[in-house]
Formats: sequence, structure tokens, C-alpha cells
Amino acid sequence: MRVLVLLPAFLVACATDMPAGDATAGEQIYTDNCETCHMVDGTGDSANGYPDLTAEKPSTDETIDLVTNGEGDMPEFGSTLSEQDIMDVAAYVDATFVNP
Ligand code: HEC
Repeated sequence: MRVLVLLPAFLVACATDMPAGDATAGEQIYTDNCETCHMVDGTGDSANGYPDLTAEKPSTDETIDLVTNGEGDMPEFGSTLSEQDIMDVAAYVDATFVNP
């Protein structure tokens, strides 16, 4: 019986924790916010310290964390982009540069 009681709560938790990024919507967000450093093809500019996303292959979780909080010379976007925008751009990075 316990399982039957806990199951709906578990399903709700899964639904809200799942990154529901939309890679198509993320393309415009990438163009507007990321392309200057990481380039249109994601290869970055290693001479200036901007990593090649196609080589680094960050996980979607890493990308979400980095975009939200920034790191080193990577700016944070947590205060300018919505959570949905960040999930969308992370889905775009994953679908386009990490797992094309
Ligand atoms: C001003 C330049 C700049 C902009 C704009 C920028 N980044 Fe970055 N990004 C960096 C730098 C520099 C690093 C390396 C950070 C470090 O670890 O010191 C980085 C690291 C990353 C990494 C981690 C790569 C790895 O090594 O695993 C990801 C993913 C990433 N950026 C995605 C994005 C996305 C998505 C956007 C747009 C929302 C964005 N960046 C915008 C400069 C930038």
C-alpha cells in the first residue's frame, strides 16, 4: 500500500525535475548570448580562453549550472535569462555541439 501512496508524489517529482529544454527555442538564445565567445559552430576561441564546446562535451546539467552561475571569465546568465531559457539553450548546446 505504501508504494501506491508514494507513487503519485514520485511522478510529480520526476516531472518537475526533468530538464524540459527546447533545442529549437534555444538556438536564438545561443545566437543572442553565447555566440560571441563560443562561436556559431560551438568551437569557441581557445586562444582567448573560450572553450570549444564540441571538444569539452559538457553534460546538460553542467551547461545549466555554468550558464546560471558563471565561472571564471564565463558570465552568469541566472539574472538575465529565465530558467526555461537556460534549459532551452542547454538543450541546444547538447543537441548541436555535444551529441550532434
Ligand atoms: C564573455 C564570453 C562568454 C560568453 C558570452 C559565454 N561564455 Fe561560456 N564560457 C566562457 C569561458 C571563458 C568559459 C570557461 C570558464 C572556466 O571554466 O573558467 C566558458 C565555459 C562554458 C562551458 C563549459 C565548457 C566546458 O569546459 O565544459 C559551457 C557549457 C558554456 N560556456 C556555455 C555557454 C553558453 C550556453 C553561453 C550562452 C548562454 C555562454 N557559454 C556564454 C565564455 C563565455
